[in-house]
Amino acid sequence: MSELVKRYTSSVFFDKRLWHADIEGSLAHAEMLAHCGIISKTDHADIVKGLRQISEEIHKNQFEWQLDLEDVHLNIEARLTQLVGDAGKRLHTGRSRNDQVATDVRLWLRDEIDNICQLLIDFQQSLVEVAEENIEVIMPGFTHLQVAQPISFAHHLLAYVEMFARDLERFKEVRARVNRLPLGSAALAGTSYPLDRERVARTLGMVDKDGNPCVCQNSLDAVSDRDFAIEFTSAASLCMVHISRMSEELVLWMSQNYGFIKLSDRFTTGSSIMPQKKNPDVPELARGKTGRVVGHLMGLITLMKAQPLAYNKDNQEDKEPLFDTVDTLKDTLRIFDEMIGGEVEGKTGVKSGGIKVNAQAMEAAALRGYATATDLADYLVRKGLPFRDAHEAVAKIVRIAQDKNVGLSDLDLKELKAIHGSIEQDVFEVLSLRGSLNARSTLGGTAPAQIRIQIDRLKKLL
Ligand code: ARG
Repeated sequence: MSELVKRYTSSVFFDKRLWHADIEGSLAHAEMLAHCGIISKTDHADIVKGLRQISEEIHKNQFEWQLDLEDVHLNIEARLTQLVGDAGKRLHTGRSRNDQVATDVRLWLRDEIDNICQLLIDFQQSLVEVAEENIEVIMPGFTHLQVAQPISFAHHLLAYVEMFARDLERFKEVRARVNRLPLGSAALAGTSYPLDRERVARTLGMVDKDGNPCVCQNSLDAVSDRDFAIEFTSAASLCMVHISRMSEELVLWMSQNYGFIKLSDRFTTGSSIMPQKKNPDVPELARGKTGRVVGHLMGLITLMKAQPLAYNKDNQEDKEPLFDTVDTLKDTLRIFDEMIGGEVEGKTGVKSGGIKVNAQAMEAAALRGYATATDLADYLVRKGLPFRDAHEAVAKIVRIAQDKNVGLSDLDLKELKAIHGSIEQDVFEVLSLRGSLNARSTLGGTAPAQIRIQIDRLKKLL
């Protein structure tokens, strides 16, 4: 092999990241080989000793990774043989790198999914905390980015908590399919050694919720399947899309034209030329990094397209997109948790530096946008008008208010009565933002009473 081909085909400089999973898998495999009488107890003891030392060397950064040895698996095995001789050479009995690498990636990803789930829960908790402080803060709710109806800022934040709750569900579902054992499939067809695959699955914690071992049931599929990586990246993409939607809103809300929020200086940057600038770099980057993760999904799904059974070297290309997806999502969740919820200061447990809300600006924007027009129409319906007629009458009233450049509640009763005789003094309660909010008390609606119910539910859930 030329140097170029060696560099082109080797994966050690990125897959060394799987070393821990690789050793964990080898320990489980060796234990089973010894238990089944395929290798001797002394060989098993030597393998355990050697792998422990290798763990330590890698931990201490003393392990010498060699490009010539292609990947993490061959690097570790070569060092093991160096350390314990023939026992090291026996470790690979009944195993192939094809089932080994599939096992390693699954073990690694399973742990990372658990980390991601915890980060998602942390972030949701922060969002619920911020929501709880802002139940009575009224902002315009939008459709088509046009002011639609007044909503509570808490309600808006809790919409994201719902999105992240679905992400969490998805990651847990994917985890169950990640957590299955390919090992024992060997190169593609299974092996002639009497392996106990279920024993290895149990050792590695690859069990279902009832404790039954989860073992891939077809050796060809087991070594070639990367569906789990595609599924995970798909769930991660959707999660990033949710973060990207939030990012877009943060960017808008921070602009002078909205002025709804401020982010702590730690998450913004200035401009090298315009001294007044405070740019929302973090949400912008998160929006940008969403493209990167969605790109990885396209990369992985295209990688699998038209691959014949069983293992092909194409699959070596699964790692970098997967690693980068995990890193990007984890960093993004951590940074968003801090940016929105604030950072815990020292040992006090008190958070500071989270999102700052300008309640006045939000309320003023809702008033400017005639956000209570639907409430006025509903009011007329209660007075006996068919909804379509009420809709038309309110459209006229909005036009009058626009012409005079005032809010709906600034019109006097005489003007309102001229449009429809049934309008009485009690209309002004309906035209207020707070009245509108309180009225929307269906399950899942924006009324503060409903939001409190939702916050209680979420607190128990999280
Ligand atoms: N480095 C390889 C990968 O990541 C390991 C499996 C290699 N198997 C083989 N038959 N060449 O996919």
